[in-house]
Amino acid sequence: MFITLEGIEGCGKTTQVERLARFLEERRVPHVVTREPGGTRLGGYIRRMLLDRDHGEMEGLTELLLYAADRAQHVAEVIQPALASGRWVVCDRFADATTAYQGYGRGQNLDLVHRLNLVATQGVWPDLTLLLDCSVEVGLDRAQRRILAGASPEREDRFERQVQEFHLRVREGYLRLAEQDAVRIKVLDATLDPDQVHEEILSLLEPSIERWTNGTDRSGGVVWQKGSG
Ligand code: TMP
Repeated sequence: MFITLEGIEGCGKTTQVERLARFLEERRVPHVVTREPGGTRLGGYIRRMLLDRDHGEMEGLTELLLYAADRAQHVAEVIQPALASGRWVVCDRFADATTAYQGYGRGQNLDLVHRLNLVATQGVWPDLTLLLDCSVEVGLDRAQRRILAGASPEREDRFERQVQEFHLRVREGYLRLAEQDAVRIKVLDATLDPDQVHEEILSLLEPSIERWTNGTDRSGGVVWQKGSG
């Protein structure tokens, strides 16, 4: 089972990733928790390059290719082997983030983004994507508080510095993706209390956990063959 969490800055997905991981531990479901960018050693370098606010000169195409490079390494080194060995993978952002941020947010050609996603993922695609949706005002306010409280390991990055319109486009992009693939992408109200969001996530996952626990489905993720996304 391959689960990804997505959303704009400050949507609370990192908290939900941690809580989901704790739940899987309690249920003794073997799993890997990872993230993009930066889910591998090499990806760590790419993450620093991408987020450093001193890299304002980075071209949109360079940015897109760096996310694709990070993902190619991540899928080959972490995600694919974990799924192949029957473990669940919980990933904080994945290919939908590139469509939302680089495609809708930055205006990179959506067909190019789609093709790069296909190449980088080698067809490894999430079974379930949890889109934590909130308004840009709420999200950016939370992200700002996190930085001021020193709770974020990184200082305000290149993305958090973007103007409001950029984040509006990213949110719209995510919602459009959810409309196009309503079976895979579940939209959750991220303004709810974190406990409530967690409960909703668990109710979405319960059937899969059930199948896993009674051994009727121990497959490791799906290979994506659809022509969208
Ligand atoms: P994070 O804050 O969730 O760790 O993500 C780091 C930033 O990278 C965040 O601003 C979103 C951005 N991002 C993209 O622009 N495209 C992508 O494909 C991914 C995975 C992240």
